[in-house]
Amino acid sequence: MTKSEIALTVHQTSRPTGFPTPAHFRFVESPVPEPAPGTALVENLYWSVDPYHREMMDGDFELNAPLEGRALGRIVASRDPSLPEGEIVFHRSGWRTHSVVRPEEVRRLPHHDGVPLSAYLSVLGGTGLTAYVGLTRIARLREGDDVFVSAAAGGVGTATGRFAKLLGAGRLIGSAGSAEKVKYLTEHVGYDAAFDYRTAPVAELLAEAAPDGIDLFVDNVGGDQLGAAVGALRERGRVVRIGTVGQYNTPDAPPALFNHADVVEKSLRIEGFLVRDHRDAQEELYEFAVPRLRAGTLALDETVVDGFELIVEAFLSMLRGGNTGKILVRAAA
Ligand SMILES: NC(=O)c1ccc[n+]([C@@H]2O[C@H](COP(=O)([O-])OP(=O)(O)OC[C@H]3O[C@@H](n4cnc5c(N)ncnc54)[C@H](OP(=O)(O)O)[C@@H]3O)[C@@H](O)[C@H]2O)c1
Repeated sequence: MTKSEIALTVHQTSRPTGFPTPAHFRFVESPVPEPAPGTALVENLYWSVDPYHREMMDGDFELNAPLEGRALGRIVASRDPSLPEGEIVFHRSGWRTHSVVRPEEVRRLPHHDGVPLSAYLSVLGGTGLTAYVGLTRIARLREGDDVFVSAAAGGVGTATGRFAKLLGAGRLIGSAGSAEKVKYLTEHVGYDAAFDYRTAPVAELLAEAAPDGIDLFVDNVGGDQLGAAVGALRERGRVVRIGTVGQYNTPDAPPALFNHADVVEKSLRIEGFLVRDHRDAQEELYEFAVPRLRAGTLALDETVVDGFELIVEAFLSMLRGGNTGKILVRAAA
């Protein structure tokens, strides 16, 4: 078989305890599949690797079977008239160079001139939708709200920061895991203040960055960041719980502590959500974000890793904070 006739698929081979390593995965070679009637063959161009994949490694991902994840690809052979060759589609059969898909498994991408393809997996994809829904539907952001975001330099965190500013937020504070990321947040993303959560107790760092408190905490991490934020919230403050990436690799860590009385005495609201329950906001996100991307008032924050053979490395690096903005893997040209 020549290289172009070989398909590569990633399998998980064992369950990790703590951080996964390359030894928990295997690249499996096979001939490029033929589409059966009613399906099409997609050659994948971009893959998303996400924190939720780490959660799925504990049980939802079947061992020694192709993994799944969000991807964008081009239809290269079709046996279904609704899946025309040449079309770029979004689907969930990622972690492989080639995917065979049925019409109901794909979403055709809209054509927005001047918007790069990668954006459909970052700020216009599930990552951006999570940030948008978190701010609009769950937090019900009000003009002038002072907002603190954890994992602020990641995919959801950068989108949250940029959207919050565009939606009229007041002071914007972010936490991230390195001095470079802190600088990126204030110099590029529009955060007014940022800190490295590893350098001192988070409650102290937050008090310094937001001496007058906050109205909203968008939480991607949990743990002591949640405890500190509950303490810093003003009356009628809100916490939007988006994720708990601080715990995915340390399941034995003690649960987050926060002052339960604060929730009553300050009339706080703590609410979580799953983006999959808010797919109906997709068009609204396009209407909000696409004109701003075109006008240059919204920019992309992406770490792009070139080459499918680096997908496992990209995933493991993201879990340790190796990304700034949304991490994506791009097929070699
Ligand atoms: N609710 C939903 O439907 C939904 C949808 C999408 C994503 N999420 C959640 O949103 C969060 C962000 O996801 P994302 O895709 O945008 O990933 P991301 O933030 O781009 O990447 C993960 C980041 O987490 C940070 N991190 C890792 N371990 C940490 C720890 N112990 N403490 C603090 N930060 C840590 C790292 O940044 P640092 O260098 O700053 O540590 C890393 O870059 C995750 O919790 C994810 O599960 C939820």
